[in-house]
Amino acid sequence: MTANGPMGTQAVDAAPQSVLRLITCGSVDDGKSTLMGRLLYELDAIPEDQLAALKADSRRWGTQGAALDFALLLDGLSAEREQGITIDVSYRYFATARRKFIVADTPGHEQYTRNMVTAASTAQLAVLLVDARQGVQTQTRRHSQLLRLVGVRHVLLLINKMDLVGWSEAVAARIAAEYGDFAARIGLAAPQVIPVSALRGDNLLRRSGAMDWYRGPTLIEALEDDRLDDGAARGQTPLRLPVQWVCRPHSDFRGYAGLIVAGSVKPGDAICVQPSGQEARVQRLVSPGGDRDHAGVDESVMLTLDRELDISRGDLICAAEAPAAVAERFECSLVWMAEEPLLPGRSYLLKLGARTVGAQVAELHHRLDVGGGQTLAAEALGLNEIGVCTLVLDRALPFDPYAENRDTGGFILIDRLSQSTIAAGMLHRALAPARDLHPQRLSVDRAARQQLMGHGSALVWLTGLSGAGKSTIANLLEQRLHAQGCHTYLLDGDHVRRGLCKDLGFSHVDRVENIRRLAEVGRLMVDAGLIVLVAAISPFRAERRLARELMEPGRFLEIHVDVPLAVAEARDPKGLYRKARRGELPNFTGIDSPYEAPDQPELRIDSSRQSAQEAAQQIHELLRRQNIV
Ligand code: ADX
Repeated sequence: MTANGPMGTQAVDAAPQSVLRLITCGSVDDGKSTLMGRLLYELDAIPEDQLAALKADSRRWGTQGAALDFALLLDGLSAEREQGITIDVSYRYFATARRKFIVADTPGHEQYTRNMVTAASTAQLAVLLVDARQGVQTQTRRHSQLLRLVGVRHVLLLINKMDLVGWSEAVAARIAAEYGDFAARIGLAAPQVIPVSALRGDNLLRRSGAMDWYRGPTLIEALEDDRLDDGAARGQTPLRLPVQWVCRPHSDFRGYAGLIVAGSVKPGDAICVQPSGQEARVQRLVSPGGDRDHAGVDESVMLTLDRELDISRGDLICAAEAPAAVAERFECSLVWMAEEPLLPGRSYLLKLGARTVGAQVAELHHRLDVGGGQTLAAEALGLNEIGVCTLVLDRALPFDPYAENRDTGGFILIDRLSQSTIAAGMLHRALAPARDLHPQRLSVDRAARQQLMGHGSALVWLTGLSGAGKSTIANLLEQRLHAQGCHTYLLDGDHVRRGLCKDLGFSHVDRVENIRRLAEVGRLMVDAGLIVLVAAISPFRAERRLARELMEPGRFLEIHVDVPLAVAEARDPKGLYRKARRGELPNFTGIDSPYEAPDQPELRIDSSRQSAQEAAQQIHELLRRQNIV
């Protein structure tokens, strides 16, 4: 992970052009760990103490008899030794006279796609291993698709274990041709192919005596190739400087600091700040050792401007002649990294650079079958699945297409409740806004309407299992309020599903949409001045929270109508639990579909102990205490 999140790059050294980030990948037994271990050993990059430990470990755990088992050097985690698999990304650093290297070693197992995507998103080059005896495998194709997706520009295909195929030129040529065809088909740059034996060290640093038919570079020569340096190319593109920090030590000085992710800057340059579009010229490039006259890509700078602009953390300083686009609807790819599936309609947080905004997947267009390369229809995305979707943000953001710039086009999605990273994403292109919206300021507002009504308005949200008594309680409460002269409306799940929501069933995705619609309609009705009662199972915390966030503070009252499942099932007023138990009603809440109880409802009613009358009275009192009635 880097300072910009997993999709960003970061300056790692005072001379960043000499650093190459690479990722090793391939199937489980292709020899990645052995390769890196052997390479580090030959480069004398293993400290004495680690070498001693390696010798001891090789005797204890090794699979190579008395010889050193280089794989053990890379497999840093003890859990993985016990299981014999690699379960996370490990980073290694080494250097030759010409270049420094940061290597991410990632697991080959399919279920660890997220690790690979995280590591690959900052890599300039991928070393992809295949076993000469196996050739191109499903996993090879999968990894290549992922490399293309996250924009790794250079691929080295290492045909490993050549010693086990008699150093055969024909075998290597066949694999190289097969892989070359595949790479071209998926739009991946033509790979450099090197036949090696990682175990024996052939064609790593030392040219192999056994494969004199091979005329290309050794691995280390290929890694030192000047053409891999993309710093120069990135320096030629228009300036992109995400503002990490606004420095205001006193009122006469305002500096904007950040890492240049594209282009370069010097005093006098015309810049444009997105998303606001304000323009200015660069005045100074401030640095501790005195002002600088130029700063380039991957360098951290602080600059001042020739006029005062309103700039905050997360804004993007761009070259004025080619500013980043600003949009709030996008087409993007998502790599889903959470156990919980992606649900279109659910609200997540999107973090791009230093900016975090609310985001919803409006439409999931398709899922990508990374092994085969086809697109598949999909309702949701599961762990490690990749999809293409329309994303709608709460606020417009500056961006570049990911293919042009990983830093300003790559993002992560964060779960609102757990705050954990649940997806990595790549923006493809902006989509036209839903409409050109220019909301007119309305003179008759909720306050005015409320005055006519003579009481406050609120959204009273009853949630709970089927058979908990939500509708009964809501009905009694509405009678009470009505008798008191209050204007009310009851949105009952069973009723709404006959009209507004009659296109929806009971899958995860449909329920999310059902609750979203109830929340939006409830909000309009509260705005109209009504006391709105919602009685719906509404089983998911995330959507109840969305409903809460739509409302002003104090106008959303969450009532958990709580009942043990056994009691609801014994009541079974509609006979649905019986049906569900017989398997005739799939996705029934409490049986084979989850119910997430509220953590902090405004009121919890135990409907196995309290009567519906008592419950209605309690809610009524709550409304009084909140000065709604
Ligand atoms: S919600 O989960 O999307 O909030 P909602 O409250 O609108 O559900 O609808 C629930 C009602 O639909 C139940 O009271 C029941 O009568 C009916 N129903 C039909 N199938 C199911 C099911 N699989 N799970 C729950 N309720 C169902």
